[in-house]
Amino acid sequence: MHRILSALIALSFVGTGAAFAQSDAIAQRKQSMKDVGAATRDPGQMLQGRQPFDLAKVKASLQVYVDSAQKMPGLYPPGTEQGGDTSASAKVWQSKADFDARFAQWGSASRAALTAITDEASFKAEFPKIMQACGACHEVYREKK
Ligand code: HEC
Repeated sequence: MHRILSALIALSFVGTGAAFAQSDAIAQRKQSMKDVGAATRDPGQMLQGRQPFDLAKVKASLQVYVDSAQKMPGLYPPGTEQGGDTSASAKVWQSKADFDARFAQWGSASRAALTAITDEASFKAEFPKIMQACGACHEVYREKK
C-alpha cells in the first residue's frame, strides 16, 4: 500500500516537473532570441553606418549567437508547440532535424566569424551572411503575428 502511494506521489511530482520544464523551455527560448535580437542592434547600426565600427562589440554579439545556437535545439521539446505566447511554427516539430541543423550551421558560421572578422572590411563582408540566417529561419519556422 505504502509503495503504491509513494509511487503515485512520485508520479505526480514528475508530472508537475514536466509542466514547469515545458513553460520554462518556451520562456527560455524566447529570452534567448530576445538576447540575440538585442545583440544584433549594434552590428546592424554599424552596417548602416549609424554607429562607428567596434570590433569588441561585434565579437560580443557573435558570442551571444554561438551560445544561443548551442542551447536552442534543446528548448523545443515535444509539448511546447503551444502556450507561453510562443510564435514558433508547428513546422519546428515537423522538421526538427532541419530546424536543429540551421542552428548548428548558424552557430558554426558565427564561431568562424569570431576569427574571420578582424577589421571593418571583413566585418562588412562576413556579418551580413550571418544575419541572413535570422530571416531565412524565421520565414519558415516562426509564425507572423
Ligand atoms: C534556426 C532558426 C532561427 C534562427 C537562425 C534565428 N531565429 Fe529568431 N526565432 C526563431 C523562432 C522559432 C522564434 C520563435 C520562438 C518562440 O516564440 O517560441 C524566434 C524568435 C525571435 C525573436 C522574438 C523573441 C520574442 O519572443 O520576443 C527575435 C527578436 C529573434 N528571433 C531574433 C533573431 C535574430 C536577430 C536572429 C539572427 C541574428 C535570429 N533570431 C536567428 C528561430 C530562429
